[in-house]
This record gives sequence, C-alpha cells and structure tokens, in this order.
Amino acid sequence: MVLAARLSATVTLRLLEQGDSAWVAAAYVRNRAHLAPWEPTRPEEFFTTAWQEEEISRLLAGCQSGAGLPMVLVTEDAVIGRVTLSGITRGAFQSANLGYWIDGRHAGQGLMTAAVGALLARARDDLELHRVQAETLLHNVASQRVLQRAGFEHIGMAPRYLRIAGTWQDHELFQRVLVSARG
Ligand SMILES: CC(C)(COP(=O)(O)OP(=O)(O)OC[C@H]1O[C@@H](n2cnc3c(N)ncnc32)[C@H](O)[C@@H]1OP(=O)(O)O)[C@@H](O)C(=O)NCCC(=O)NCCS
Repeated sequence: MVLAARLSATVTLRLLEQGDSAWVAAAYVRNRAHLAPWEPTRPEEFFTTAWQEEEISRLLAGCQSGAGLPMVLVTEDAVIGRVTLSGITRGAFQSANLGYWIDGRHAGQGLMTAAVGALLARARDDLELHRVQAETLLHNVASQRVLQRAGFEHIGMAPRYLRIAGTWQDHELFQRVLVSARG
C-alpha cells in the first residue's frame, strides 16, 4: 500500500507513527480553541504526550487488524492535521467512517481537500472499500465544501447524532461510493 503522498511543497500525508505522540499533543494544544466547537469535549490528559502515545498505540493496533487507517499531515517539524478512516466494516458493508481536522494556521489552502482525495484513493485501491461515510455539524460549511469537492453525496440529517462540544448535536450525513473496476 502506498502510504505517503505529497500535498504541497512543505506538507506530506503519511501513516501515523508511534513517534508522533509529542507532535500530535503539541498540535492539539496549539489548536485547542480552533477545534473545540467541532470535537468531543476533551479531558485535560488528552493534551499530553503520554495520553497521545497510548492512543497512537491503540490506533496502530487497529490499523494492523484492519479496523482503521490513521494518517497525519506533517511538515518537517510538526503535525499539522489528521485524516482518519475508522470503523472499517467488511462483509456486505465494505464501509468506513472518515474524520479530519487541520491546524488553523494551515486552513484554507486546499490541504484537506487534497488529503481526503489521497485517502479515498487508498480506501478504494488498497482497502477495496465500497463506501466511505462522513458527517458534519449543520453549520460546518468548510467541512461540507471538502466533502462536496471529494465527490460525497448528501444522505440526510441525523438528529442528535454525535456529542460534540458537550451537546448531542444534529449532523448532516454524507457518503462517497467508491467506484472501482471490480464493481
Ligand atoms: C474542515 C477543515 C478540515 C477544512 O480544512 P482546509 O484544509 O481548510 O480545507 P480546504 O482548504 O481544502 O477547503 C476548505 C473549503 O471551505 C471553505 N471555507 C473555509 N472556511 C469557511 C467558512 N467559515 N465558511 C464557508 N466556507 C469556508 C473554503 O473557502 C474552501 O472552499 P473553496 O475552496 O470552495 O472556497 C478545517 O476547516 C478544520 O480543521 N476545521 C475544524 C475541524 C473540523 O471541522 N473537522 C471536520 C469535522 S466534520
């Protein structure tokens, strides 16, 4: 599987690594206010290298077992975003869930659109998934633009779908069916 892609002159998309814990923790500290409205409420430990180290172990074990594909956007000295396939389900579903965020200082440069495009290619060609689902808060227009440009279709609105920023909130659901030669 090709697990790295150049997104710009200075930003690369690659698989999350065990050694990324300090960079990941630092990225969450830098972006705490930027991400707070869009994510679950985080405990204080979440922002520590030790907590992220354990979480990365869990995610990499999940990657090994085929449950997910956790990737990071990196510069030469920082993690500046994440894009993750989780909950990979086989059988008649062949589906996964997509989540992502980018460092506020790097937003609006087309990086997440490029990262999602690269991840979808892996989902189709390497993981042989049929479908990827993503969901956004109703007012998350930037995220909806990323999904639109990646060819996602709107499924509908799911009431009280996820607990974001401490409240069970309605979400718009989107899916991308991955057309492959195998059909
Ligand atoms: C959503 C997010 C990942 C987008 O990343 P990004 O790298 O800035 O995305 P891109 O630059 O590829 O595209 C962003 C698009 O949203 C648009 N956009 C950005 N902010 C916007 C806003 N406040 N209102 C409307 N559109 C907005 C941009 O103009 C661009 O669309 P365009 O190129 O058609 O003009 C980023 O905003 C983010 O991390 N947000 C916080 C976390 C989050 O929402 N995660 C997703 C949860 S579903």
